[in-house]
Amino acid sequence: TRIEKAGHKHFMAKEIAEQPIVLAEAMTHYVQNGEITLPEALDFTKFDRITMVACGTAYLACLTAKYWFEQIARIPVEVDVASEFRYREPPIPARTLAIFVSQSGETADTLAALHYAKGKADMILSVVNVTESSMARDSDLALPILAGVEVSVASTKAFTCQLSLLSLLTLKAAQQRGKIDIGTAAKHLENLKKIPSLISHSLAISSDVKKIARKIAKAEDVLFLGRGAMFPLALEGALKLKELSYIHAEGYASGELKHGPIALIDNRVPVVVMAPRDALFDKTVSNMQEVMARGGKVLLISDAKGIAQAGQGVWETLTMPEVDPVFAPILYALPAQLLAYYTAIAKGTDVDQPRNLAKSVTVE
Ligand code: G6P
Repeated sequence: TRIEKAGHKHFMAKEIAEQPIVLAEAMTHYVQNGEITLPEALDFTKFDRITMVACGTAYLACLTAKYWFEQIARIPVEVDVASEFRYREPPIPARTLAIFVSQSGETADTLAALHYAKGKADMILSVVNVTESSMARDSDLALPILAGVEVSVASTKAFTCQLSLLSLLTLKAAQQRGKIDIGTAAKHLENLKKIPSLISHSLAISSDVKKIARKIAKAEDVLFLGRGAMFPLALEGALKLKELSYIHAEGYASGELKHGPIALIDNRVPVVVMAPRDALFDKTVSNMQEVMARGGKVLLISDAKGIAQAGQGVWETLTMPEVDPVFAPILYALPAQLLAYYTAIAKGTDVDQPRNLAKSVTVE
């Protein structure tokens, strides 16, 4: 069947807007009667560590999941880009679960990394959107993210669906390994279930994003900052912006700012601060103030309370709904996507097919 834009100007807009539906459907598929239903073959008590490998946006989903697996399931995780992993010949100790994340299931480097891990890792798990793919076929177990066909080169709904499945894997791992009590697990699941409707409500920020994007479009460099699980999101915000609008952008861990990127700050550099109110909020705010003290223009993305508390003197704000901080990265993917989308529109670049990029990189 031919996939249409369903009234949207671009596939990317359609795929962004679809996120509440596909995420909710995926959740229904994997959570039944309050239980996370995964194949029995996936037993996290058999593993002492996880190694995750991917490329591009899928890699950033892995980096986010590392925070979850380590904090919630107390299992050490290594994350690598496939092009490095495959040639480094990393030792893979016993009791390792190797997870390969890929929308297409065909990315050449990720597939080669998977083949390298075969026979070395205890289990090869692939997290894919295309279930009839090489990676799915060559894995011990393939779990579909159920995002539906993604056409836009820049990944949006596949990213949030990857995050959502990886968060379910985390909760399952925490339960199986006895690292979480029933009440806490149920609370996390409840919070996760709220994400689709939070994303749906947040689509209303689009008009604000559009205005801000017109200003961002004039910048030559943009910095994205985040802490904890929001650090990979800062990387994703920067990746999306450079892919779509060709503006130079970098994502940084907020605390690392003073070790380099702060030298770039002046009144021409917008700094996007991804700051849900979490345990590290105050630290992020003080990093943000360091930027402002040097004339930097801060776009603060937080909830209303966060903005009331820290928004004084910032350049722009985007108000998000309140969200449990653990899974905030899934919700905050939306402003990152919208910023890139509307900046590309303001610059007149090809949103769905950015120059030099391919949807699926099947050659090395
Ligand atoms: C390309 C695409 C990205 C994608 C990456 C990995 O670079 O432009 O959007 O994240 O490949 O693709 P995969 O299919 O393995 O997720």
